[in-house]
Amino acid sequence: MATPALLQSLRLPVIASPMLIASYPDMVLAQCKSGIVGSFPALNARSSTQLDDWLGMIDADLQAHRAALPESILGPYALNHICHPSNTRLEADLRIAIDRRVPVMITSLRAPAREVVDEVHRYGGILLHDVTTIRHAEKALEAGVDGLILVAAGAGGHAGTLSPFALVPEVRRFYSGFVALAGSIATGDAIAAACALGADCAYIGTRFIASREANVVSGYKDTIVQATAADIVYTDAFTGVHGNYLRQSIEAAGIDLRTLTRVEGARMDFSPESGAKQWRDIWGAGQGVGSMDTVLSVAEIVERLDAEYRAAIARLEPLGRSTPHTVMPH
Ligand SMILES: Cc1cc2nc3c(=O)[nH]c(=O)nc-3n(C[C@H](O)[C@H](O)[C@H](O)COP(=O)(O)O)c2cc1C
Repeated sequence: MATPALLQSLRLPVIASPMLIASYPDMVLAQCKSGIVGSFPALNARSSTQLDDWLGMIDADLQAHRAALPESILGPYALNHICHPSNTRLEADLRIAIDRRVPVMITSLRAPAREVVDEVHRYGGILLHDVTTIRHAEKALEAGVDGLILVAAGAGGHAGTLSPFALVPEVRRFYSGFVALAGSIATGDAIAAACALGADCAYIGTRFIASREANVVSGYKDTIVQATAADIVYTDAFTGVHGNYLRQSIEAAGIDLRTLTRVEGARMDFSPESGAKQWRDIWGAGQGVGSMDTVLSVAEIVERLDAEYRAAIARLEPLGRSTPHTVMPH
């Protein structure tokens, strides 16, 4: 079975992805209580000490919820570590997360050391690694990770350039383990499509920025619901690595899109001093923005995704029984 036991009892095959600035404990708790995996980047906490406090608080809150509503589906939470030399907190944050026995760890940018994966396994946790290329997928598997997050073209934040229709089948040629797919997934239909393509689960970010619980200014949420895919700009101008951003935020920062080139000194910087600052004014978002028309609570978003996902599967089901060339009405 490709799906780790921890992820087998979700309400929907969905991991809410970690997002700098946007994913704070309130949102994580709402995601877990809606029956999906909730997550946040360790760097959203101001310090390792605050991270330790947050993890304790999240654990206590989820335990209380389980005790009060034993029948409800409660997703596990995940913590994201950005493995980049500028993240000087990485070692301390990993130590805290291992001591707190965080159920799901997500690493990004560089593959984790095998010793880290081993330590997570020792207490019963799992570690997923996010990649945009086949080469990085192979490196992560060498480190012994429990699953891959494939970040395809159109994803919010740092994103790859490969179509999901290329990325998933190519990875499936050499890997039959757990795969989550990311990139513009914002509807239940898209979750079903990710699964049809061979992923075990969808990895969703931008849809949750347009939620009441997201820790961003209302202008960011409103811009997401008004935007369409044509408003998403793919550029390395801000961090030196290509990512997807909202045109409106770039223009509001006084930057001329016609002359957008790499900003002097732009580089990835996850140091405690800079941390998430790069993301505060230039707003990351994926091409799925065109599917979102209103800011909802996390619970309402998951409710809607669930209904759409089930409708999509019901719509496709007769196709499995039909003769070739039968076109199903939408
Ligand atoms: C504003 C923003 C911040 C992000 N921050 C992080 C992060 O801290 N760590 C990380 O691994 N991925 C980060 N991502 C990428 C997401 O985890 C995920 O890959 C992406 O949102 C999925 O695509 P979608 O937004 O189209 O659903 C960020 C994305 C956005 C939009």
